[in-house]
Amino acid sequence: MSHRPDMQEEVVVVTGAGGMGEAIARRIGTGRRLLLADYSDHALQRAVQALDESGYAVTGVVTDVSDRASVDRLAKAAADAGRLVAVVHTAGVSAATATLEQVLAVDLVGTAHVIDAFEEVAAPGLVLVCIASMAGHYAQLTGQQERELATTPAGELRDLPVVQALADPMQAYILAKRANQVRVQAAALAWNLRGARVNTVSPGVISTAMAKAEAASASGSHMLGMLDACGIGRMGSTGELAEAVAFLVGPGSRYVTGTDLLVDGGQAAWIRHHMPVP
Ligand SMILES: NC(=O)c1ccc[n+]([C@@H]2O[C@H](COP(=O)([O-])OP(=O)(O)OC[C@H]3O[C@@H](n4cnc5c(N)ncnc54)[C@H](O)[C@@H]3O)[C@@H](O)[C@H]2O)c1
Repeated sequence: MSHRPDMQEEVVVVTGAGGMGEAIARRIGTGRRLLLADYSDHALQRAVQALDESGYAVTGVVTDVSDRASVDRLAKAAADAGRLVAVVHTAGVSAATATLEQVLAVDLVGTAHVIDAFEEVAAPGLVLVCIASMAGHYAQLTGQQERELATTPAGELRDLPVVQALADPMQAYILAKRANQVRVQAAALAWNLRGARVNTVSPGVISTAMAKAEAASASGSHMLGMLDACGIGRMGSTGELAEAVAFLVGPGSRYVTGTDLLVDGGQAAWIRHHMPVP
């Protein structure tokens, strides 16, 4: 069936057509126009077909979040499609499978692009949720380094001394995810002035292709061991993560902005207060 344009129709954007992206699209996309964005045409077509077969009004938009012009095109398409009410940014790469440069381009700079590009089209009521990571809670940065990560223009982030000093993809991932958290804190002012909100969700280990690749990597057994040690004894499901996102894009969180919601089964709390010190 063809879609009739309707400027009163609510529009939701989800970047990343992976495990979290599809679950979030299913949770918050009902009765709305969904724009699903990914740089992988294959991942996009698979998720669009699955959502379409389930009755969602979904359009795939090939987008590379590491390219600001590409994100600008997505933001414009969303604003032109109706009343943009939610953007959930899940597109990302993992330290287990990406290079240091890819982690910086996608997880650090790409997230900054999404915050900046959608601020420009934000109308009252828009909510942006960026998926960061529990890893961001482990970053050991000075206040000055955090302020620089929070406010330096996206195109200059790679030039910061703290970024130049990174030695491997895991260090880059931890820094990028902390940067996501502090960038939404700093962005909350501009979004508030537009009547819009911006937050991060920091997942622990959520059962997606990314988590399974990490579980199979060199640090996988350590990661799974921590899930047992902290008492939760399992990965989180994509549905549980989608519930947290649904709260942040819904009416029950209208006073929540510029903050992070940790969804990790208690892992970060265990690491902070109970992990044996070597
Ligand atoms: N799964 C976990 O346990 C976990 C834990 C903490 C944080 N996260 C974060 O959650 C987010 C979603 O992860 P997931 O588990 O759904 O992973 P996933 O691999 O299932 O999906 C990620 C998607 O992002 C897309 N992508 C990668 N680079 C892109 C780019 N430049 N432009 C557009 N799309 C791009 C990929 O093609 C993929 O479809 C990521 O930011 C990840 O770092 C995941």
